[in-house]
Amino acid sequence: MKPRSCHRLLAPIADAATGDAAGPTSAAERAPEYVREIAPYVGGKPIEEVARELDLDPSAIIKLASNENPRGPSPKALDAIAVAARELTRYPDGNGYALKQALASRLRVSADQIVLGNGSNDVLELATQAFLRPGDDAVYAQYGFIVYPLATKARGARGIEVAARDFGHDLDAMRAAITSKTRIVFVANPNNPTGTWLPGRAVESFIASVPRDVVVVLDEAYNEFLDPADQADSTAWVSRYPNLIVSHTFSKAHGLAALRVGYGVMHADIADLLNRVRQPFNVNALAQAAAIAALGDVDYVEESRRLNREGMRALERGLASLGVRFLQSHGNFIMIEARTAMAVYDALLRQGVIVRPLANYRLPTWLRVTIGTPAENERFLAALSTALARSDASRHAH
Ligand SMILES: Cc1ncc(COP(=O)(O)O)c(C=O)c1O
Repeated sequence: MKPRSCHRLLAPIADAATGDAAGPTSAAERAPEYVREIAPYVGGKPIEEVARELDLDPSAIIKLASNENPRGPSPKALDAIAVAARELTRYPDGNGYALKQALASRLRVSADQIVLGNGSNDVLELATQAFLRPGDDAVYAQYGFIVYPLATKARGARGIEVAARDFGHDLDAMRAAITSKTRIVFVANPNNPTGTWLPGRAVESFIASVPRDVVVVLDEAYNEFLDPADQADSTAWVSRYPNLIVSHTFSKAHGLAALRVGYGVMHADIADLLNRVRQPFNVNALAQAAAIAALGDVDYVEESRRLNREGMRALERGLASLGVRFLQSHGNFIMIEARTAMAVYDALLRQGVIVRPLANYRLPTWLRVTIGTPAENERFLAALSTALARSDASRHAH
């Protein structure tokens, strides 16, 4: 079985002036070419979908495909959601006052430097909406998070993909790739899907080297999984670099992916621009309440980090004993190599284990696996051992 297929290329646009010279023109055909060329985002396969397609019991399926927190949200966040769910009639606070106050005091910035997003994905999109126009450039790394090219292309801007160094960002080459048309540079630290990470001092000197009229989006979605000693004080950099946007999410370590809430920290002038293009009520009431509670539960995040580290070590040991190559990862996921990656992916699916193929990252011989609970990790390793044997057997049979 293949993941849902890539995009259909729409038919070429008919003659704009006459319409009928090239046949009837549909509304879809008249969409901008740069939109028609976008390959849609392919997410991890949902449990229900796999259950339907393979006739499996959904409760027996584990999903290690979207880098969620296997522990789920903090009980404090769940309590806050239950309280907030009593009032669903009114619109949420469109300015997210209470959440911004909580974030401002935690991060030691002012509330007008924070932009809330429907997931941090929204913040990435808002940055492209505010700064990119057709003809502009955005710079990002090969194997960088796939939303950077998607959001860039959606604005009709040109993406400059800079060759990776050891699967990670080559910051010197990225600096060199900036042109007079470049308006945004994206850096993910740690990066998804590779799990590569750069020390704070390297990232800060990169930001310092970028022209001040180019926005740097520093995406720290997986920051909480780093050892505290490795977590850069990047929000403090915002006061030094007025062109910097640092984005964070409640989807990963805080376990709130379904609610869609994230934020960016930036100079107030930049925040003002992003707020102009933001949907008025982009973060729902349940998400705002849950995020405040999750932010306050520091112990929960710390325990999640500890379990992630233990799970990572367990997977590394298991992979090594299976002879599977993997990349050292600083996130809550790990990239593993398999020559027959799609066959291994299929064989895992049939055993009720969902991981993520990476063909859309042009990494066709790699799979990405999210660190699960100890039981999920064990189950994955056992299923992988079976999958490798099966895909090997089928290779030799041909
Ligand atoms: C590097 C990176 N940035 C941002 C996101 C967006 O996450 P969300 O919109 O849930 O905050 C993801 C999600 O996978 C990610 O991997």
